[in-house]
Amino acid sequence: MTEEKLIRLDMGKLEGNEHKNSERAILCLGIESSCDETSAAIVDSDRNILSHIIYSQIPEHQKYGGVVPELAARAHILAIDDVINQTLEKAGKTISDIDVIAATAGPGLIGGVLVGWMAATGIAQSTGKPLVAVNHLEGHALVPRLHAAVANGTDGSNSVEFPYLLMLASGGHCQILLVRGVGQYDLIGQTLDDSAGEAFDKIAKMLGLGYPGGPVVDKRAALGNPKAFDFPRPLCDKPGCDFSFSGIKTAARTFLDKHPAPHTDEFINDFCASFQAAVVDCIINRLTNSMNDKRVLEIKPKTLVVAGGVAKNSAIRAAMENLAKEKNMIFAAPPMNLCTDNGAMIAWAGLENYRLGRVVKEPVAPRPRWPLTEL
Ligand code: KG4
Ligand code: ZN
Repeated sequence: MTEEKLIRLDMGKLEGNEHKNSERAILCLGIESSCDETSAAIVDSDRNILSHIIYSQIPEHQKYGGVVPELAARAHILAIDDVINQTLEKAGKTISDIDVIAATAGPGLIGGVLVGWMAATGIAQSTGKPLVAVNHLEGHALVPRLHAAVANGTDGSNSVEFPYLLMLASGGHCQILLVRGVGQYDLIGQTLDDSAGEAFDKIAKMLGLGYPGGPVVDKRAALGNPKAFDFPRPLCDKPGCDFSFSGIKTAARTFLDKHPAPHTDEFINDFCASFQAAVVDCIINRLTNSMNDKRVLEIKPKTLVVAGGVAKNSAIRAAMENLAKEKNMIFAAPPMNLCTDNGAMIAWAGLENYRLGRVVKEPVAPRPRWPLTEL
């Protein structure tokens, strides 16, 4: 029996009468609002995304060079009803067709998390439907099981099986995790200061390239020479799996103070390429070490996965694919639109938790901080 079939039947059992003997897939409405995207999606337990709306607030934050939490919270309030209604409309569904409601309950900017969480709670209470409180990081961590581009000697499936070794790199987090199952995470390494996404955003800001920095630095780097400037590779000469990106940022600042704007396109491209090469080297160095961690050696994950907004980075994807090949592992990454924040990953994590009966039984307070190891 395929994994999809198993999920469907298990969910049927959990659902009680309504789905007991039904072959119908379970529909989950997922809501995401933890940073600067208001998003909702309807995903079913057969891994179909029926509809997916992502309203990005980037233009609203661009002039400030980063996300302003107060503005984000207000923008979520203005957008949330429309985003949910459009998601239902696009899927040709009404709320009564939905089986489970899921929403991000943290970690994130608390004003935004509250908006999505309260909307989900309201819908669940007024309809009597089950509600799942999704950890945003678990959304990123599990979405490769919904859809992934899989490389290196696979059976042609396009989703990922447990256990896997995960590089989770976003604007707020940078962690290496051993993913053993839903809710089962071992933290193998993490950043001691900035996240990888933050480093991309700060470098772009220094160069006047706007917000968010990742996509534009990625593009510029493809045109530049990665050996033009010598950025440090913090911690890479030390054992362990932790990261530090603030040293790279300080080196960039010091260098730019000595070489102030205006910069030529060639300078900017080379600077981006050299910075990105340093980040890639750090990620590969730490991931290589993580494969010798006792817990990883014990579980022997067959798949190396990258997820989170920074997983869109072409150089990081390519370097991780090479590393996987070298270590005889499968490499997997979500499609680009499922890397950055989105409602589909929350709906999928909602379904995976619902399958295990992890629904809200008493009021849940959204959490600005919520480590994956505390699920
Ligand atoms: O996962 P995400 O949407 O939000 C958080 O949960 O934080 O990640 C956003 C981050 C931003 O820092 C953005 O610059 C980065 O992902 N990002 C990239 C790329 N596209 C987005 N970083 C590097 N290369 C990219 N192509
Ligand atoms: Zn995120």
